[in-house]
Amino acid sequence: MNDIHETEVLIIGCGIAGGTAALQLAEAGVPVTVVTRARAPEESNTYYAQGGIIYQGAADSPDLLVQDVLHAGASHSYEPAVRVMAEEGPPLVRQILVEKLGIPFDLGADGALQVIKEAAHSTERIIHAADSTGKAIEIGLMNALRAHPNVTLLTGQTAVDLLTLSHHSRDRLAVYQPRACVGAYVLDQESDHVSRILAKKTILATGGLGQIYLRTTNPEGSRGDGLAMAHRAGARTINNEFIQFHPTTFHLPPAPHTLISEAVRGAGARLVHADGQPFMQKYDPQWLDLAPRDVVARAIHREMLERGIPNVYLDLRSALGRESILTRFPGIYESCLRYGIDITQDLIPVVPGAHYFCGGVWVDENGLSTVRHLYAVGEVSCTGVHGANRLASTSLLEGLVWGNRAARHIQQTLGDHDMPPPDDIPPWLHAPGDKADPALIAQDMRTIQQMMWNYVGLVRTTPRLARALRELRHLETEIEGFYQVTRLTDSLVGLRNAVRTAVLVTLAAWGNKRSMGAHYRE
Ligand code: SIN
Repeated sequence: MNDIHETEVLIIGCGIAGGTAALQLAEAGVPVTVVTRARAPEESNTYYAQGGIIYQGAADSPDLLVQDVLHAGASHSYEPAVRVMAEEGPPLVRQILVEKLGIPFDLGADGALQVIKEAAHSTERIIHAADSTGKAIEIGLMNALRAHPNVTLLTGQTAVDLLTLSHHSRDRLAVYQPRACVGAYVLDQESDHVSRILAKKTILATGGLGQIYLRTTNPEGSRGDGLAMAHRAGARTINNEFIQFHPTTFHLPPAPHTLISEAVRGAGARLVHADGQPFMQKYDPQWLDLAPRDVVARAIHREMLERGIPNVYLDLRSALGRESILTRFPGIYESCLRYGIDITQDLIPVVPGAHYFCGGVWVDENGLSTVRHLYAVGEVSCTGVHGANRLASTSLLEGLVWGNRAARHIQQTLGDHDMPPPDDIPPWLHAPGDKADPALIAQDMRTIQQMMWNYVGLVRTTPRLARALRELRHLETEIEGFYQVTRLTDSLVGLRNAVRTAVLVTLAAWGNKRSMGAHYRE
């Protein structure tokens, strides 16, 4: 890529939120450049979403959905945002995913979309593509982007920092203007070259931050890159203490902690110990294994601590026959079998893992952040929909709705200002040193993950948070010093972002003394 690339709209990340924004803009005739650090653009949090997406059942209504979301969010959701999602979401699912992209959602015997009920939803309203809904959506979306002449899709490109005139302009007087984003510095992983991508509007769609935890359902790119970049650019971030932990991730080191969907318990699987004894009756006699996510996750955590065991198990084989398991959970079957666990016959070893970030970059109803011309959509953003805890199957819907809204708002406002003058932003200057030793980066990353897991995890206490804050701040100072003198690589960028993100989460957890939703203080 050239040293300077100019585009009307730069989109960083291409899960459902970034991908929807790109597609809607491209179809409206706006040229967009989409960059992703992944080699294959499909690689995103969306790709790994097993649960479905909310649509609308026969007995459903926007009011009912609003109620369910507010209830799950522990009375901390922003109702106007929830209402936007409840009203606009289902029609967009039909228009974009079903009609335009033809995503192969499961159909019922009558040939209509099969609409099911999930835990904490008061009626049937979720549609699935077996247990790989996100994958089906992402493949459809990326195929459409690849085919569109208005989309430039760049892979293997790591966004390093957002460009703002107040931080980067050669004109020192720009510091007196309101903060405005004009694009990003982007590292080409292959050539090591850092280019300036200048844009009238920039959309952050980088996903979540699960990789700052030792155990997570998120893919390796979820290092909090977007949150850290937005914070450095001066954007407001909120609700950073609300990390949703999923109770069941596959645990058979060194296999990755892939998600074992809640739908498995919905189908009758029980949480048990190695001897087959269930234990959820001790924690929630009414809902047992289908109690809210945070209750189940903490129950597992407690059983593991009290018994000194590395994991508990899910018993699906006693609930469903082989054929039903293969039909309903083909993706989970395959991924466990790869590591020698046949879920039709064996118990599945599981532990909780960091799953979804409910906080993020504060945005308004159009996805606009507090920095001019900078939008954030999907998991990196905080619209207020998820409050202190997220209702299952809302994340893909929120990404679709705000991806579409950001695109619409950009179309309306793109003509209001000019492209920043290219000479205003200086080229990237590589640091004088060599590339970092990967072993050093891996060790620092492991330290962050362990610290976050042990001290800022499922159960938080004042002494744990105090220790985490002290050690993370020290580590951040070290990493920042190292960053200034070391040649840039994707993993160095990720490490710097991960430690900043960990500090932001810990500070928020420290500042909130009350247990709320996913934030549990003892
Ligand atoms: C799951 O399938 O258990 C996860 C779904 C979600 O987080 O929405």
